[in-house]
Amino acid sequence: MTKTIVFVNAKGGTGKTTSTICIATALAGMREVAVWDADPQGSATDWAEQAADAGQPLPFNVEIPNEVRMKHGPRHTTADYVLIDTPPGHPKVIDEAIAAADFVILPSSPAVIDLDRMLATAASIPAGVPHAALITRANKQTVAYKTAVTFLRDNSVIPVFSNAIGDRQAIQNSFGSRPDIFYDYSAVTDELLEVME
Ligand SMILES: Nc1ncnc2c1ncn2[C@@H]1O[C@H](COP(=O)(O)OP(=O)(O)OP(=O)(O)O)[C@@H](O)[C@H]1O
Ligand SMILES: [Mg+2]
Repeated sequence: MTKTIVFVNAKGGTGKTTSTICIATALAGMREVAVWDADPQGSATDWAEQAADAGQPLPFNVEIPNEVRMKHGPRHTTADYVLIDTPPGHPKVIDEAIAAADFVILPSSPAVIDLDRMLATAASIPAGVPHAALITRANKQTVAYKTAVTFLRDNSVIPVFSNAIGDRQAIQNSFGSRPDIFYDYSAVTDELLEVME
C-alpha cells in the first residue's frame, strides 16, 4: 500500500520543496519513492530537470498531478511512498493534499512569523491525521531556535520532530542537483519510518 507524505505551510519559503526532495532522496535508498509537485511554481520539477541536465538525475520521478489525481490521491501506483510538495497560499491544493495524507509534515523556520503560519496551517488538519512540525534553517545554538522548540514542546502545541534541519549553505546550494543525504534529513527520515512502518 502506497503511503502519502505531504509537506505544507501556507507561508512561502519555509523549506517545503527542499524537505520534500531531501527526504525523498534519503527514502529512495530504502524504498520506492515518487514525488508529486502540486505547486504551480514547479520548483520540484525545476529541481529535477536541472539535476538531470547536470547529469545527476534525482533517484525518483517528479510528477505533476492533475486535478483528478490530487482529488483522489495516489492510487494504482507501485511506489511505497508518494511525497507531495505543495504551494504556499493555495488553500484548495493544501486541503486536497492533506486529505490524501498518511502523514503531514509542516516545515517552518524558528522565526515567530513562520511558526504562526505553520500553527495556523496545522489547525486545518482534521483530527486523526498524523502530523508533525519540522524546524528548518535552524541555527541550533541561538536563543531564537531554543525558544521556538521550548515553546512548541512545553505547550504540546503540535508534535515536533526530535531532529531539526540546520541552516546550511550546502543544503541551500543543493537546489538543481542530486542532494547529498544530509545528516539532519537522514535522521528525520529515520524518525518518519519509525512512525509509519
Ligand atoms: N536547511 C536549509 N539551510 C539553508 N537554506 C535552506 C534550507 N532549507 C531551505 N533553504 C533555502 O530557503 C529557500 C526556501 O526553501 P524552499 O524553496 O525549500 O521553501 P518552500 O517552502 O518550498 O518555498 P515556496 O513556499 O516558495 O514553495 C531556498 O532558497 C532554499 O535553498
Ligand atoms: Mg516550494
